[in-house]
Amino acid sequence: MSAKSNNKKFSRRSALTMIGAGAGVAAASSVLLPRFAIGGMAKIKIGTLLPYSGTYTRLGQGITNAMELAFQQAGNKLGGRDIEIVKVDSEAKPPKATELTNKLINQEKVDMIVGPVHSGVAMAMAKIAREEGTMMIVPNAGANQVTGPFCSPNIFRTSFSNWQPGHPMGKVLADEGKKRVVLCYWAYGAGKQSAQGFKDSFIPAGGTVIKEIGIPFPKVEFQAALTEIASLKPDAVYVFFAGGGAVKFVKDWAAAGLKGKIELVGPGFLTEGVTKAQGAAAEGIRTTLHYADTLDIPTNRSFRAAYKNAFGKDADVYAVQGYDAGLLIRAGLEAAGGDTGAKAAMIKAMETTAIDSPRGQWTMSSAHNPVQNFYLRQVKNGVNEVVRLAMENLSDPAKGCRM
Ligand code: BEZ
Repeated sequence: MSAKSNNKKFSRRSALTMIGAGAGVAAASSVLLPRFAIGGMAKIKIGTLLPYSGTYTRLGQGITNAMELAFQQAGNKLGGRDIEIVKVDSEAKPPKATELTNKLINQEKVDMIVGPVHSGVAMAMAKIAREEGTMMIVPNAGANQVTGPFCSPNIFRTSFSNWQPGHPMGKVLADEGKKRVVLCYWAYGAGKQSAQGFKDSFIPAGGTVIKEIGIPFPKVEFQAALTEIASLKPDAVYVFFAGGGAVKFVKDWAAAGLKGKIELVGPGFLTEGVTKAQGAAAEGIRTTLHYADTLDIPTNRSFRAAYKNAFGKDADVYAVQGYDAGLLIRAGLEAAGGDTGAKAAMIKAMETTAIDSPRGQWTMSSAHNPVQNFYLRQVKNGVNEVVRLAMENLSDPAKGCRM
């Protein structure tokens, strides 16, 4: 990566050269500067911009719950300071994102922003975070640009790029000799980039995409697409839908009589957190993702037990990504001694801490996106079970990232 930065207020170069001096400022500020309210230290304000209504509601709730769990496990203190979380509903609506992000930063005066789920909302948030130098942690939205051309020292992602989960599935199908595939997805950034990740491994291995069907987000009228798919008789269909849309698509697929006739695959969002609602229609579906319910590692077992105990429901990948956002924020603020102004110290810790996640340990790429394993999974009795490792330590290509 080149050292050139597009970031106006906070370049990586300035961050790195500030580390020595910045650490001193951090230490001094807690003693000398009126950063803290009289009578006690001011709370650290974290603003979430996540969907608490609409088709992605469950995703936003899982992220928020698990991030709060990560804070509770640290005694609800970050670098010695209490926390206040300001929650704003993004409604997964990109046109509202600029106003809501500005509200969090300029009116609520939060110290950092966490969000979003929807890639279109992420684009607006990241633009502002870059301009303002506000710390931003993305716990889901996969927009490739956020850790590509929009990458910035103050922006980190704990989830995936849209390219990542699709890429292993293209290889899985190609290795099995599948040749003719239809792609069907919500036709916005996430669906299109997920499809590209799939094509980038499937086509060079000899596969052909015979048709791409885009459905406007968040519409769930799938009948015309299903009729067309049935007439094309492909070897498999790769789809990108999540949340409420994934429930509807999988049920409609079975109701249309396609289950058992044509294989339905996708990135794991197709069956994540929704298998109960999908019922028998989800059984047997194979997906690729950086997490699976049955990952047999101590961190996953203890996280799932703690999450169930706290919220009375099963954890899913969205909860894992929210939990990891909490762990990343903890690492950053502990390194900064709770001083949110000590960004260089925070950034350095966030870049270098290996996150001991329920998905297994992962590291941050130089573009600030997880380098992580991807698993082939299959739904059995409503559980996303690991079939095998599909790609190890997969890193996003981070095209266009200059930091
Ligand atoms: C996205 O918009 O980036 C997204 C939404 C739901 C699941 C995965 C990705």
